[in-house]
Amino acid sequence: MALLSEGEIGQLVLAAEKEIESASTPEELSTLKIKYVGRSGILTLALRGLKDISPEDRPKVGQALNSAKVSLEEKIDARTSELEAAARKTARGFFDHTLPGTPYFLGHPHPLVQVNREIVRIFNFMGFETATGPEIETDYYNFEALNFPKDHPARDMWDTFYLQDSELLLRTHTSPVQARVFEKRKPPIKILAPGRVYRHEAINARSYYTFLQIEGFYVDADVSFADLKGVLHAFVSAFYGDVKTRFRPSFFPFTEPSAEMDISCTICGGKGCSVCKYEGWLEILGCGMIHPQVFRNVGYDPEVWRGYAFGLGVDRIAMQKYRIDDIRLFYENDLRFLEQF
Ligand code: PHE
Repeated sequence: MALLSEGEIGQLVLAAEKEIESASTPEELSTLKIKYVGRSGILTLALRGLKDISPEDRPKVGQALNSAKVSLEEKIDARTSELEAAARKTARGFFDHTLPGTPYFLGHPHPLVQVNREIVRIFNFMGFETATGPEIETDYYNFEALNFPKDHPARDMWDTFYLQDSELLLRTHTSPVQARVFEKRKPPIKILAPGRVYRHEAINARSYYTFLQIEGFYVDADVSFADLKGVLHAFVSAFYGDVKTRFRPSFFPFTEPSAEMDISCTICGGKGCSVCKYEGWLEILGCGMIHPQVFRNVGYDPEVWRGYAFGLGVDRIAMQKYRIDDIRLFYENDLRFLEQF
């Protein structure tokens, strides 16, 4: 490094100051910083060369170099923060109206609500009106009116949640709506009663302590089991398309005869898979002809009126439709699950 006189140092500083002033970005300033005061910068090298100049000149030149270095460094830093502040200010003050807006989360009906609505809509088309009943029910409507005498073993078909110190319980099925409607109205009646029911059952992938049911019933002078099969067939082909149905004899105290209806597995088409447990069939509802004793309990003459009833499980149907293997997913309300529907 050539030795610098005091005058040359002054000129160097002036030139550097001009450059600093005309720099318009922090990047340019950092290049200047390297050029003058960096590890191999002009002033740094000049300071290193001090040892080579005469001892008399050394203190003066040394002092001049040092203060030049300090002052240039300060000026570069000051100008850098000035430019950065200005950049921040424009960024804040500038409104780009072409940018997309802040996304707003739009909710949608829960998958069970969607399936419930779809089923109700199909039955409405077939002339069923909608009725509802309370979820906190009396022992009378949940059991007794439906021909479950007190202490009848059929009550064990459902493990019931009883409300402490009262005759009240959480309804175990939507069938009590039958008795409530019969008491208020005279046939012919064709009703659909969707709603939540509760059972004191162990929770696992296939059963939960609560689920949705849809009760349907039709009472008129001339209603037969064939009508029941016809309406259920119509529902199944509207909802699933091309599937087979089969009826298996069953037992409910409030229907006689009673049956359960299966549909051919919607996943494997009846060949057998893990969803239908290799049986080729899936159970979707219980049904039957309304028991004469139920009619007597509500003041209908069983010699005059006939009726059918069915109760389908919405959760199970939704599980089959969306191929969900764990009912608990419907109730955990994890958005990652719900957002898929
Ligand atoms: N209530 C019955 C149940 O929960 C289903 C059913 C309804 C059966 C109507 C027959 C008639 O299992």
